[in-house]
Amino acid sequence: MRLLHLLPLAPLASYVSAAALTAVLAANNASLSTLSTLLATVPDVVTMLSSAQNITILAPSNDAFTKLMARNPNSAQLMQNPRLLTGVLQYHVLSGKIPSSDFSTTPKFASSMLTTPFANVTGGQRVELVKVNNTAMIFSGFKQGSMVSVADVMFDGGVVHVVDTVLTVPATPSDTAVDTGLTSLAGALTAVQLVDAVDALSDVTIFAPSNAAFAAIGGGLGALSTQDITGILGYHVVQGVKFSSDLLQNGQITLGPTVQGGNVTVRRENGQLFVNSAKIVLADVLSTNGVVHVIDNVLNPSNTTATPNPSATTQSPAFGGASAVAEAPFTSGISPTTTFVPATVPLNAAGGAFAAVPTAALVLGAAAAMLVV
Ligand SMILES: *[C@@H]1O[C@H](CO)[C@@H](O)[C@H](O)[C@H]1NC(C)=O
Ligand SMILES: *[C@@H]1O[C@H](CO)[C@@H](O)[C@H](O)[C@H]1NC(C)=O
Ligand SMILES: *[C@@H]1O[C@H](CO)[C@@H](O)[C@H](O)[C@H]1NC(C)=O
Ligand SMILES: *[C@@H]1O[C@H](CO)[C@@H](O)[C@H](O)[C@H]1NC(C)=O
Ligand SMILES: *[C@@H]1O[C@H](CO)[C@@H](O)[C@H](O)[C@H]1NC(C)=O
Ligand SMILES: *[C@@H]1O[C@H](CO)[C@@H](O)[C@H](O)[C@H]1NC(C)=O
Repeated sequence: MRLLHLLPLAPLASYVSAAALTAVLAANNASLSTLSTLLATVPDVVTMLSSAQNITILAPSNDAFTKLMARNPNSAQLMQNPRLLTGVLQYHVLSGKIPSSDFSTTPKFASSMLTTPFANVTGGQRVELVKVNNTAMIFSGFKQGSMVSVADVMFDGGVVHVVDTVLTVPATPSDTAVDTGLTSLAGALTAVQLVDAVDALSDVTIFAPSNAAFAAIGGGLGALSTQDITGILGYHVVQGVKFSSDLLQNGQITLGPTVQGGNVTVRRENGQLFVNSAKIVLADVLSTNGVVHVIDNVLNPSNTTATPNPSATTQSPAFGGASAVAEAPFTSGISPTTTFVPATVPLNAAGGAFAAVPTAALVLGAAAAMLVV
């Protein structure tokens, strides 16, 4: 239900000329007092923000924090830890002054101030900025959506946008898999002891097969050795962070080498993106070390010439002889801790119909889980 978004919002004082950040916060105390109270506990952050130039602050409203506390009572404790609070706040500060007019139907991936030890993304962990149905939105970890409720409040150092949901700090690829329902992938990584290795990478793109993708070849998995599975999983990981906006060009792009050594081919067909013959069904899920794109087939490093049939709704598996199984493989022992419902957003305006943007799920559980590590 989107009722929350329909509630009247307290109007923000707007400024013809810019003012100091502290003055902007004080003038808008009615909607930003929780943020001000939290900031008061981390004076270094206030000093940094007050002297910074050319930044964008995504300021969670009081309602955003109320929603957060209601969904995850542990978040209150997290906020009392200055180190962790600083991490969460850094993720809400972006490089560059990005007015709402810069949000478009093609997503942009802006750099935040969140870096190591909470992210292994060169230039700072990213947020996705995109206009959905003419509304400026931000997608963060687990593809959780935040709506800009009040845009373009100018201050000396840049611009503030008030957001209705606290951003989720992106989690490791393995936690992202577990918590977005990619339990076969999480189980496969666990089975061949690749979890730590994949999570420790920096600046990567991971093509993450859905559970249905693994089930479609489940009958053939028993014949594979650990080495085979390691090679197959490694073939899904490419060095370099490639967002959908980097891939959405006409013609085909070769990405590689993958961790396995081979290349993959990305094609744009009818506004959809395919990796070899697999379709990207959910793009741009941010993780600690880059980005995850969910695909509908397991990639086969021995079948690099597999090509998609863009008019088919499902693609033939890239493992010729493998039969399907009913139960998603590798999932025993993998229990999702929290169910996040990732938002589905179109690749771009020309990419077909808008999918609904689901209500953001349990938001700060993720930040807590990740930041506490
Ligand atoms: C801001 O609002 C809070 C909560 O309503 C209140 O306790 C505080 O005194 C206010 N601060 C200012 C500067 O008005
Ligand atoms: C503002 O920041 C953006 C992003 O980091 C950068 O591209 C741009 O050059 C900066 N502009 C100024 C005036 O410093
Ligand atoms: C970043 O990479 C280092 C070294 O590979 C790893 O130890 C650390 O856990 C990673 N950080 C995060 C937030 O995953
Ligand atoms: C991967 O592609 C690069 C150029 O794009 C090429 O030089 C290299 O030989 C390819 N590797 C394999 C294993 O095909
Ligand atoms: C390669 O993939 C195609 C589907 O794209 C499949 O029809 C074919 O059987 C596969 N070949 C092998 C050797 O697995
Ligand atoms: C966006 O618009 C489409 C088509 O009008 C509608 O189906 C969808 O529910 C809207 N999404 C949101 C988040 O309002």
